[in-house]
Amino acid sequence: MPDREATSNGSDFIATSSSNYMNQALDELRELEKGLTVKKVLEPGILLIHTGLLKAEFLDRIKAAKPVFTRHIHHVACSIPIESGTGIDELTAALERFSGDIAAGEKVAIQIRKGDCRMSFNPIDFKIAGDAWLSEQKKAIPEIKRPEKIISVFLDGLQCHMGLGTPEDNLSGWTGGMLHYRKSEDDISRAKFKLMEAIDVFGIDMKRFANALDLGAAPGGWTSVLLEHGLHVTAVDTGDMDPRLNRYPKYRIIKCNVSELKLDDRFDLLTSDISWNPKNTARLINNLAGNLQNRGTAVVTLKLMGDRVRKTIKEVEEIYMEQFDIVTARQLFHNRDEITLYLQKK
Ligand SMILES: C[S@@+](CC[C@H](N)C(=O)[O-])C[C@H]1O[C@@H](n2cnc3c(N)ncnc32)[C@H](O)[C@@H]1O
Repeated sequence: MPDREATSNGSDFIATSSSNYMNQALDELRELEKGLTVKKVLEPGILLIHTGLLKAEFLDRIKAAKPVFTRHIHHVACSIPIESGTGIDELTAALERFSGDIAAGEKVAIQIRKGDCRMSFNPIDFKIAGDAWLSEQKKAIPEIKRPEKIISVFLDGLQCHMGLGTPEDNLSGWTGGMLHYRKSEDDISRAKFKLMEAIDVFGIDMKRFANALDLGAAPGGWTSVLLEHGLHVTAVDTGDMDPRLNRYPKYRIIKCNVSELKLDDRFDLLTSDISWNPKNTARLINNLAGNLQNRGTAVVTLKLMGDRVRKTIKEVEEIYMEQFDIVTARQLFHNRDEITLYLQKK
């Protein structure tokens, strides 16, 4: 079957971001390579891009740059036309091109995403056939959660874009960088998923902490996550906390504006999901840095306001840098008009 190899003169990638922050993601990518072009907007927030750099060099640059808005990226080794007769067998046969890069016993995920299009086959059948190819032909282990390698596939209705990478290459081990959590009626707020994702994506070892200060805590989703990790939690908000939290013995509420908070306690973790002007919030948090032990950790959301989003982030980071080192800043899948910062007290 004819297919189109990505040009030898450079390489193609699919890059994803929030649909609202695609321009910011593209600006970040263009800073890595000025000549980078968009071949096609596959969906809002999903771009097929071309760089004049070879795959390895572009990946090295993006990993070193730690982009904020580019959530996921995968190499496109080939783009196979999907015609009316194209079926699972042809697509599975195309996996052979990755054969030499997959070793027996290796844990490999096939991650398939489909655009908003109709297909003559079910992508799940392609995944099943691909997993069978991995285990029977390659003696590899089809893996979902912690793969060593990922075959990424994007089906846009006209073409099947395929590439091979590692979770580090892709900036995320999850399909499209989308980390889904199971929802439950017991969830106090959906905001809790932001903190759960930050813990996962930043690789924060919660066993290191005993005493957390949670600012802008109401109704208490983040507080519930911290309590479930066994921490003592002091929750601060002007609003009401969910009464279901009262069953935790290590829980304390201080109902006040964070600007008026005066505490003698020392914490090893500070979290903040304060929904307020990000510069003022950063100053409030800096004022409380004395309550955080040296090299203590902070996880804070930064609300995105106004048009000059990246400039605002830089300015807010400069305020935090008076008290903290910025470990990572990312727009997580569960962030809306905000990003999450992972900070460490100086
Ligand atoms: C997005 S909500 C927090 C959601 C919470 N993290 C959860 O998981 O349920 C933002 C909260 O920040 C609080 N807030 C905003 N400014 C504040 C301030 N200066 N002092 C105290 N709370 C503040 C609001 O009352 C609101 O409850």
